[in-house]
Amino acid sequence: MKLVPKSRSVSSANGAGALQELKKPAARSRTIRVDFKDVVEPRESFMDKFVIRGGNPLVGSIRVSGAKNAALPAMAAAILTDEPVTLENIPDVRDIQTERNLLVSMGAEVELGYGRAHHRTTICCNNLVNPEAAYELVKTMRASTLVLGPLVARMGRARVSQPGGCAIGARPIDLHIKGLETLGAKITQEHGYIEASADRLRGGHIVFDKITVTGTEDLMMAATLAEGETVMENCAREPEVSDLAALLNKMGARVEGAGTSTIRIQGVGKLHGARHRIIPDRIEAGTFVIAGALTCGDLTVANCEPNHLGALLQKLEECGVQLQTSGDSVRVTGNGQLFASDVSTEEYPGFPTDMQAQYMALATQAEGTSTITENIFENRFMHAQELVRMGASIRVEGSRAVVRGKTSLSSAAVQCSDLRASASLVIAALMADGETILDRVYHIDRGYERIEEKLRSVGAQIKRIGEMLPKRAAAPVSVA
Ligand code: UD1
Repeated sequence: MKLVPKSRSVSSANGAGALQELKKPAARSRTIRVDFKDVVEPRESFMDKFVIRGGNPLVGSIRVSGAKNAALPAMAAAILTDEPVTLENIPDVRDIQTERNLLVSMGAEVELGYGRAHHRTTICCNNLVNPEAAYELVKTMRASTLVLGPLVARMGRARVSQPGGCAIGARPIDLHIKGLETLGAKITQEHGYIEASADRLRGGHIVFDKITVTGTEDLMMAATLAEGETVMENCAREPEVSDLAALLNKMGARVEGAGTSTIRIQGVGKLHGARHRIIPDRIEAGTFVIAGALTCGDLTVANCEPNHLGALLQKLEECGVQLQTSGDSVRVTGNGQLFASDVSTEEYPGFPTDMQAQYMALATQAEGTSTITENIFENRFMHAQELVRMGASIRVEGSRAVVRGKTSLSSAAVQCSDLRASASLVIAALMADGETILDRVYHIDRGYERIEEKLRSVGAQIKRIGEMLPKRAAAPVSVA
């Protein structure tokens, strides 16, 4: 990746006030401007593998990054204003790089901090020329559809590729579309794209047929600039939704009730720039807690928000995991004594579907039989077959997986199929006998920031390797 250092270049008559404010941090630490052509392939990890030698207890302290799922909608929220929005604690993961590309492809100016400001990004959508999310970007990250609502609300039009299917299920966006129609947008769908337009959205009453996280976020953002009041019922209550509402309110929006199932939004004529710190990643934190428990270590998962981990920590305690929580950390100590317990995934505050795969790795080491029921996505057991290849006893029956513990795991060559499935395989490899090779780690790079470095710092034996060269390279073609 080649990024060209550049001095601040955000310019907007309306953004002048916010620009002054932005100059302060720029004086302390420099920033680099993202150029679309430079970041199309931000990190050449497509062929990378992890080699993990199991058996080491994780001991020490590991720091959790900002929440990818809070950062993505926060970055989309910058579309709602022509002034700069500065976001702190942005994780350095591939999905964030994809979203930066998307915003830059639309004409946004995006600057990254570096050095100590490495996790800061400033986005200015003063000059959005191309309100389109192309298939090439949406196909690699479904959360790209989060730009749909903000684009219609601010620009009056949007063209966003339909996401299509993905490894964990169909993942339709019909509820985003239905909600935008309720707010007065005209929607057409052709050539694989959704086109939405509206002179100005107007407030409305939206009742979600199903709880959807990004659907709630998308429509909440759209409603901030609509004329009049919007009431949304059966909303997602995830902490990431509340974090987005906090940012929107800093930008001048009037959002109430985020974190409950009814959200009220009084539309305003204009939003302004703001500065906001993204909440810690509860899924990354939960992944490390399970890794600590399973490796019989003494691990402090620092810089997290234990209140966001309620259902997971309660379940782990039921399984016999020793936990101590403080204001912003969880200490986990494992003694190898784990007991089976059933789990059903639910919307927040229930047990998160994004922790189901990692919990399955734990269930393979618990005495007894655990039944894991997946209620959110229809095809989210891809990790089960890989765990079985490592020696686990798992039977998948529709939306249920029956895991019989406690089986010893042995190393194997395994493949990551999606983000959280990959995390479960990393955890399994950390306690397996021998050296596991994990292929397709680009899935894990989508949502975990340098996981191998973090795990190595607490004693794991894990190494990233690039694609091996074939034994004999083809003979060079001679040109006469
Ligand atoms: C978000 C998270 C993802 C997490 C998921 C569930 C982000 C960027 N991603 O994904 O990590 O696994 O929540 O907690 O925040 N549905 C519809 N129609 C729609 C929208 C959703 O039927 O228009 C269905 C989905 O197919 C799924 C369920 O609703 O069965 C929940 O999906 P949703 O909450 O929308 O997931 P995402 O927001 O995509």
